[in-house]
Amino acid sequence: MQDIAANSSLPPLRLGVNIDHVATIRNARGGDHPDPVRAAQIVASVGGDGITAHLREDRRHIRDEDLARIQDATDLPLNLEMAATQEMLGIALRHKPHAACIVPEKREERTTEGGLDAAGLHNTLVPIVDRLREADIRVSLFIEADERQLETALHLGVPVVEFHTGEYAHAILDGDGDRTAKELRRITDMAALAAKNGIEPHAGHGLTFDNVQPIAAIPQLAELNIGHYLIAEAVFTGLEPAIRRMRDLMDAAR
Ligand code: PXP
Repeated sequence: MQDIAANSSLPPLRLGVNIDHVATIRNARGGDHPDPVRAAQIVASVGGDGITAHLREDRRHIRDEDLARIQDATDLPLNLEMAATQEMLGIALRHKPHAACIVPEKREERTTEGGLDAAGLHNTLVPIVDRLREADIRVSLFIEADERQLETALHLGVPVVEFHTGEYAHAILDGDGDRTAKELRRITDMAALAAKNGIEPHAGHGLTFDNVQPIAAIPQLAELNIGHYLIAEAVFTGLEPAIRRMRDLMDAAR
């Protein structure tokens, strides 16, 4: 895909780097190396805007003790991705990350497949969102770009939603132009609707050097959270150049 030329003067788009998969590699051997804290420091040193980490129920990548270590090691805001459970709520309230993004979680899935059914989980979410808000944690819901889900987010009073870009990324991989255009339109429309209703829209999942620019060009988006591709690229080029290239592509699309 061609680089998209800079659009004019859209507000800057923040890049949150998801460092989970540094921990995945560490955990493969059970030791301390590579340390996700070192990755967080590199993100800070190359101008990344935030650190994202998903503390999963099975602790397959980030572990509890990593959270405080990451918070101590950089001044970047921490965006904690968490399932809507009492256990994760307790951890979030103890660590007080800048933001908490509520994600769906199934033990058997390889990654977060699909957005949170916020509409279906409304009654479970109300007390969790309330407790996080009372603790001054910026709550986000990781949802599909779907009007019903967005309405629930509005009803719950969350300040942020993150739109799942997985279907968009899959459509590109499948070489399906119509589906790609449809997915992009869905995210574009819902980002505009979110912003119009006072919710800050973010996006993430499956974003790469090749597919990031049409998403980065959506004017209302304020933040992208990108993980697996950056960490995988880092194997070949190092983390610093991988983040710099992603940053440049995002900036060029604005
Ligand atoms: N945003 C959220 C809410 C996620 O759950 C994930 C995956 O953990 C990402 C962004 C990053 O997705 P990827 O690793 O595919 O870049």
